[in-house]
Amino acid sequence: MMKLRDNMVTIAMFGTGYVGLTTGVCLAELGNTIICVDIDAQKINNLKKGILPIYEPGLDKLLEKNLDKIEFTTDGAQAIKNADVIFIAVGTPSQSDGSANLDYVRNVAKIIGKNIESYKVIVDKSTVPVGTADMVRDVISTYYSGDFDVASNPEFLKEGSAVDDFLNPDRVCIGVASKKAKSIMLDVYGNMPDDKIMVTDVKSAEMIKYASNTFLALSISFVNELTQIYPNHNIRHVTAQMKETINQKGFFNIGLGFGGSCFPKDVKEFLHTFNVNGIESEILDKIITVNEKQKTRFVPVIKDKLGNLENKKIALLGLAFKPNTDDMREAPSLALISQLKSLGAQIIAYDPIAMTEAKHYLNDSIEFSSNSLETVDGADALIIVTEWEEFKQLKPEEIESRLSNPLICDGRNVFSEDAFSQVTYIGVGSGKQKMTDEELTVVFNSFFNTTALYKDALHQLASKVSANIEDVIHGMMLDSRIGPNVFRE
Ligand code: UDX
Repeated sequence: MMKLRDNMVTIAMFGTGYVGLTTGVCLAELGNTIICVDIDAQKINNLKKGILPIYEPGLDKLLEKNLDKIEFTTDGAQAIKNADVIFIAVGTPSQSDGSANLDYVRNVAKIIGKNIESYKVIVDKSTVPVGTADMVRDVISTYYSGDFDVASNPEFLKEGSAVDDFLNPDRVCIGVASKKAKSIMLDVYGNMPDDKIMVTDVKSAEMIKYASNTFLALSISFVNELTQIYPNHNIRHVTAQMKETINQKGFFNIGLGFGGSCFPKDVKEFLHTFNVNGIESEILDKIITVNEKQKTRFVPVIKDKLGNLENKKIALLGLAFKPNTDDMREAPSLALISQLKSLGAQIIAYDPIAMTEAKHYLNDSIEFSSNSLETVDGADALIIVTEWEEFKQLKPEEIESRLSNPLICDGRNVFSEDAFSQVTYIGVGSGKQKMTDEELTVVFNSFFNTTALYKDALHQLASKVSANIEDVIHGMMLDSRIGPNVFRE
């Protein structure tokens, strides 16, 4: 049962996208009063009518439940005047050199500087490079000489489960520079269990976000690289051992690589931060190169089995970067489709919720199907791209009977090989060869050597940017998908 505190806070939330809207609605659920601000009047008008700009399970109901505590407006100036705390949750898109574009953050800081008239806590919620809080402070100070604080409160929300991730977090990371800001931020999260709150300095909080996400991406690329190094081995057995030994919830699920608006962006931005600080970042480079290769691993396999792909019909199940979301950003399906089409293949695809969004990326370059089985009808090969629950429920014999050529490439190991009798089934890391104990030892040593190099790079960066490395490592390990066993003692 949520403990109810009365000294909750009035919060202005700048940005009503995946992060801003979810955060605003959940902070209302925690008892705060929220003023959601966006420059997009259409978006604000829709939100006033309860029409959400994003698909996030449970968000619509939570918004409805808290409508009495949430206001939507385009009037940023008024929101600043009425708020005690101002969250900046606007986009920080990647630039060509891998760095984050902070123009939107800077613009909000300017609006705050021009309209702040009394003490406020300004909170970076967007994923921003270490040191951004200093930039926000400098911009505001250009226009306002009064007292204020800038804090960091990074988000760890997974798309498709963002509401649950917010209300039941592994940790709430609060980076503050004064007792006053700390007290106010603890009021904001006053109805969150105390043991979930981790307070540190601002730069360490900014760094914990990147260190955590990059480690999760490193975990994924590490196990995916095993399928590239040992193509004939059963890597699913190896990752089961890694989960057993290191962390059952570890991001050790092999597949077609990671996509989304966070991992690719965060890794590139962290890589840029290391580079500008003159720190060797070979590990981070590799995370990205392995991931890009993994997305299109099935193309040579299909070419090998089908020969010339001219006008061959390839069916894809799953388009978004993962199940339960319509987000197509950096989705592995896009790289797959691009390569297959460049070889002359015809693509038919289905995704339970992402097809509308996918059409913005693919236009009419592929055929869209209305259900799973229709997609498979007459196809020369099937590629399972995401692990949607409804794909798991498909009957193997129904798939087999519809394929005109018996080839299934299972990108998320939704099925097992013995589920099919008539087709060539190719999973990821599902080779027949069992790893010897010596090979397993090599793999585990390689993992711990990799994490040791990563930890060393974090140490170097923390000292360069004056972050607290103990807090950064602690904040990382509080993520239940990382945990305390990822570094060899
Ligand atoms: C991620 C982080 O999990 C979250 O903490 C952060 O705040 C935002 O970025 P998100 O990108 O929404 O969240 O999705 P997530 O569920 O983490 O998956 C990211 C990608 O990694 C997906 O493409 C998924 O398919 C892939 N993945 C995940 C794997 O390939 N293997 C795994 O074991 C886990």
